[in-house]
Amino acid sequence: MNPTAELGCRYRPVWHYAAERNWLNDPNGLVYSNGVYHLFYQHNPYGDVWGNMSWGHATSADLLTWDEQPVAIPCDEQEAIFSGSAVVDIHNTSGFGVGGVPPLVAIYTSAYAPGSPLAGRQAQSLAYSTDDGATWAKYAGNPVLDRASADFRDPKVFWYDGESGSYWVMVAVEALDHEVVLYKSADLKAWEYLSTFGPANATGGVWECPDLFELPVDGDPSNTRWILVVNLSPGGIAGGSGGQYFIGTFDGVAFRSDTTVTEGLQSDDSRMADYGWLDWGRDYYAAVSFSNAPDGRRLMIGWMNNWQYAASTPSEGWRSAMSLVREVRLVSRGGRPVLVQEAVDPVESHGRELCALGRRTLADGVTWLPAESSGDVLRIDAEFEPGAGGRIGLVLGSGGEHAVVAYDSVIGELTLDRTASGNVDFHETFASVERVAVRLEDGRLKVRVFVDRCSVEVFAQGGMATITDLVFPRDPSTAVGLLAEGDGGILVSLTVTG
Ligand code: FRU
Repeated sequence: MNPTAELGCRYRPVWHYAAERNWLNDPNGLVYSNGVYHLFYQHNPYGDVWGNMSWGHATSADLLTWDEQPVAIPCDEQEAIFSGSAVVDIHNTSGFGVGGVPPLVAIYTSAYAPGSPLAGRQAQSLAYSTDDGATWAKYAGNPVLDRASADFRDPKVFWYDGESGSYWVMVAVEALDHEVVLYKSADLKAWEYLSTFGPANATGGVWECPDLFELPVDGDPSNTRWILVVNLSPGGIAGGSGGQYFIGTFDGVAFRSDTTVTEGLQSDDSRMADYGWLDWGRDYYAAVSFSNAPDGRRLMIGWMNNWQYAASTPSEGWRSAMSLVREVRLVSRGGRPVLVQEAVDPVESHGRELCALGRRTLADGVTWLPAESSGDVLRIDAEFEPGAGGRIGLVLGSGGEHAVVAYDSVIGELTLDRTASGNVDFHETFASVERVAVRLEDGRLKVRVFVDRCSVEVFAQGGMATITDLVFPRDPSTAVGLLAEGDGGILVSLTVTG
């Protein structure tokens, strides 16, 4: 039994951010400023279920270890503070800066409470910080953008500098209409309508937490595409909450998608696997990217949970964690740009190699690795040459409880099966098998898997496909087994680091 289990925090992640106490959902206000990454988030300061929505705050220098800070923007009797973004207002367009120091400006959704004259509405508001994120003041002229809508939320703001000029752009959602609405502003205070995108592709739930950013293809700055992220819940690819994305162009006014498969509200379930998904698992939601990240990196983080069962996951005084931070890039495959994701790696700097294996044919069944390769925080890198007709992969667990990451070469599908991973009974939809079609490259499958007490994150083929799932094993110390069934194939290499 690991010692922390006795302290009632056996599921508290080591590599992932969770609030010290109480509830957390969406990442908000992701911004880099003066060497510090700020992670604000939807937080209930008073309980371990959703409510009293306020912006919690954590800071990090390396995106791996986070220091919790005091609540940044608390709710009050007038409004709950729903999701949004933050920018470094470098040119002090807002006028909130003092002494030549650029202010940080948060653009959040005011979800007006019964005590407000605007009760029932959602509109966009500003808060600003002149001490680099430590303390925040609300703008006296709030809200800055009100469409008299009950479901207008989750503004993501960025500085656009292109053919149409230089100004702030906001993407937000009309959640029930499956629309992303775009606005522009010179000063973050006065907003002018630009365009609307959607409905398109997955529309099986409300559209939430959009993001829009430009990425070079294969690192070439003269060849770029824009990515529009649209989270939706339910209606995600694996059931419940999920994140879809579109690849296309943005001319400063409208986003045009090259990857729209279905338009309008007729959600066609048979096309779901043809849409772009940020993750094929159950627990990667509300993912958005950091503003102002150094070296032009596009870094995203998601809430590692699912609205289907988030209120009932086992709680130990805190509930819910963030995913690892992921760097997203575009690479061309078969003449088309595709999104790849790589986790900011927790073991690179301080990991210890627990096990390394070379090429071998796997015996049929499960071969457990020696006990030294077990642990509750592990990174597993494995490369396989799957056989012509069978399954090959990894078994993660102990005591008869396990999550299974397996590739089926007959159907060309990678699965993460958590049906027997431990406590799955707390919600009827939790026990599940996640699936994604994966093409072998030179006959090989490469997976990188992060296990952190109550989560499994799988990055396949260099991040071409990812699967993120929560698991609640009775004993979070995970043993690693190698699985082969039928003509399973060959293990090329494996390392376990922890
Ligand atoms: C997404 C979401 C947002 C909203 C926030 C409220 O998970 O529903 O649309 O702003 O959570 O906590």
